[in-house]
Parts: sequence; C-alpha cells; structure tokens
Amino acid sequence: MRSLRTQVAIVGAGPAGLTLARLLHNSGIESVVIESRSREYVEARIRAGVLEQGSVDLLDAAGVSARLHREGIVHHGIHLQFDGERHHVPLSQLSDGRAIVVYGQTEVVKDLIADRQQAGLPLLFEVSDTAVQGFQDEHPSVSFTHAGERFQLHCDVIAGCDGFHGICRAAVESRLSLFTREYGYGWLGILAAVAPSSEELVYSNHQRGFALLSLRSPEISRLYVQCDAADDIANWPDSRIWEELQIRLGVDGWELAEGPILEKGITGMRCFVAEPMRVGRLFLAGDAAHIVPPTGAKGLNLALADVAVLADALTHWYSTGSQSGIEHYSEDCLRRIWRAEHFSNWMTSMLHRVDDQPFSRRLQLSELRYVTSSEAGARVLAENYVGLPWASSRAPV
Ligand code: APR
Ligand code: PHB
Repeated sequence: MRSLRTQVAIVGAGPAGLTLARLLHNSGIESVVIESRSREYVEARIRAGVLEQGSVDLLDAAGVSARLHREGIVHHGIHLQFDGERHHVPLSQLSDGRAIVVYGQTEVVKDLIADRQQAGLPLLFEVSDTAVQGFQDEHPSVSFTHAGERFQLHCDVIAGCDGFHGICRAAVESRLSLFTREYGYGWLGILAAVAPSSEELVYSNHQRGFALLSLRSPEISRLYVQCDAADDIANWPDSRIWEELQIRLGVDGWELAEGPILEKGITGMRCFVAEPMRVGRLFLAGDAAHIVPPTGAKGLNLALADVAVLADALTHWYSTGSQSGIEHYSEDCLRRIWRAEHFSNWMTSMLHRVDDQPFSRRLQLSELRYVTSSEAGARVLAENYVGLPWASSRAPV
C-alpha cells in the first residue's frame, strides 16, 4: 500500500468536489480529488442547467467562469402554464434585478476539470474500492485503488462529495438522521437538436401531467415530461415523447418545434436530507447529504452553496486555528437546504399531476392563479427561484 498525504481528501469529482478543490486552492490549501468514474463519463453525464446568481458569483470568485459568461444564457423570467394559458413571471423585476444563467452542469464540470488539470493539481479518475477511516479521531484517511495500485491518503479532513450513492454518507449513516419524501412520479428528460421554442423556461401544469421546456444552447433544447417513477424508457419511443410534449406544452398561437432526440432517460423524484452534515473530520456536501426534486432547479446550486461554506470554514481553521466555522458548517448549510427542500416541494406539488382527485387539482389551479396574479405570490416564487442570499460570510450576497 502506498502512503500519500494531503490537507483535504475530496471524494467525488462532481460540481461539489471540484468547486471545493478550486476554492481551497485559492486559499492555499492542498487537496486531492478522487473519482470513481472516468473523465469521459463525468463529462458526458447530462444533468441540470440553471445557475442562481449566487452560484455564478461563486464561480466568478473561484476564477472558473470565463466560458460560462461567453456561452451561458442569462434569463430574467420564466413562464408558468396552466388551464391552456401561459403566464410570465418576471424574476428579476421581482427580486431586485437578480437573474439566473442557463448553463449545463456538465459544462461547469468540464470547466472545473480543465482548470484543475491545467494547474497540474491532483485529480484521479477511475479509482475503486474507496473507503474512509479515522475521521472520529484526528487521523482521517481515504484508501482506494488506482491503476492497479492500493493507496492510503492521509489528510486533516475528508470531504464526502460523492453524490447520493457514494460511500461517505454510507460510512456514517448510523449516526445520522435521515429525512425522505418519495414522489411516485419522475421526469423523462430529453436533449434534442432543435432550437428552443421559447426564449425562457416554460413550466406547465397539464391534466395529463407536468412538462418543462428548457434549453442548453441556441441549438439544443432540454425537455421533460412527468411519467411514472418506475416507467421503462422502452415504453417511450421518440414519437410518443413529442406527442405528450405537444399536448402538455401547447397553447394557442405557439408552436413547439421538434428535432432529433440526442439523449433520453427517466429519473425518479425525491426529497432527502441527512443531518448533521459532519461527523468528526468527515464533511458531507452536495448530493451526498441532500436531494431536492428538480422542479425548483436547486440541486446544483445547493451543492455549490455547501462547498462555499465548507471552503470558508476550512480556510478560517487553517489560518486561525479556530474551529467555529467547522462547528457551524452543518447548521449553516441546513438552513438553506431546508428552505430549498420546501421550495422544491412546493413547486413540485403545484405543478405535477399528484392524484386524480378534483379537489387536489382545484387547489393547484388556485395556487397557480395566485402566484401569477398577485405580486406578493409571484415574489415568493421569484426570490426563491433566483436564490436567497448565501449563508457564508465570504460568499456573495
Ligand atoms: N469514490 C469516488 N467517487 C465517487 C464514489 C466513490 N466511492 N461514489 C461516487 N463518486 C462520484 C460520482 O461518480 C460523481 O462523479 O462522486 C461524484 C458526485 O457528483 P454528483 O453526483 O454530481 O454530486 P454533487 O457534486 O454533489 O453535485 C450535485 O448533481 O445530481 C446532480 O441535481 C444534482 O445538480 C446536483 C448536483
Ligand atoms: C434543466 O434545464 O435541466 C432544468 C431546468 C429547470 C429545472 C430543472 C431542470 O427546474
């Protein structure tokens, strides 16, 4: 077994792990990032695509936002559709000028990987048999196999940024409280080679189920339809997907352009929170600690908010010896996380076909009418959607 040493061992090269590595580097703190998948796999994985203003500011401060500013598309509003009508929600107008940027998580990850490789800093892909030890005392380490060789990486702290199915949370799960809500439904998402038919996102509540029109670029559309969580993608030939999208997104005087489907897949929807997010010297961040249903576009933004707080806490600890940031890490993050869980659950319940009871539907329509006709109602949506101020003292407000 080969022995290595670093300050922060980061498990997982998703947006949480890679952004943390970059923020720590900016503070002069060393880290090693290990990732179980290949670089090609990580860079091809299609994920969410909406960045809050605070996330953009963080990537700016980290120094990895050049392409994001060139290619990302700034949006100042979204549409909510129900009862055959489309309503505009002017997000920026309702939130002191804050906006969102549409830029794929995949692109954020590509930028962060290129940046780390260019700087010649350690980022190991295709590691296997990862295990974490010693975080209860002062001698944490991560062991793993890379290119046929077994390593033990000694460190001061471990950052578990290894997503919902990772090993870090699993290693401490008996010490955590877990909160979950499963929705029986999921989203079938497609990426299509066709110019988006709407400049801004359209969230549609339709009797047949939810649908969302989003985009990745001026040439690529991203679209979703609500389906059963256990549905098989084989039941959804391209023609059926377009047919449902046409019905659920259709309004008079507007047309949804179709094009070749480049990618499709079904994801179930759930809320999940693990508390606390720290056990000794092991910190959980991003999907490893929490999941939100995608309707509020919060998953990526929460992952970035966590690591902004963690980078701050570790920087404070290394520079002053004070553990106060570390001790408050979990509490600071969880306040924001529960707000996002609430918002995402609210958006989800308001927009999806939840059951077949007319009473439920009447309530949804009443809520949608309120949000699209009362400024107070719209403001609640807007300030949550563009993102509430960040908990970290250093992160931009
Ligand atoms: N060892 C090393 N790496 C691992 C291990 C392991 N045992 N297990 C999982 N990983 C890797 C995964 O392959 C993945 O690349 O950890 C990474 C976790 O990244 P993400 O799943 O992208 O999670 P996170 O960085 O927290 O970003 C959250 O991703 O799922 C979306 O909606 C979510 O947008 C949010 C974002
Ligand atoms: C996306 O573009 O993938 C997307 C946009 C908005 C959401 C969820 C996903 O709420």
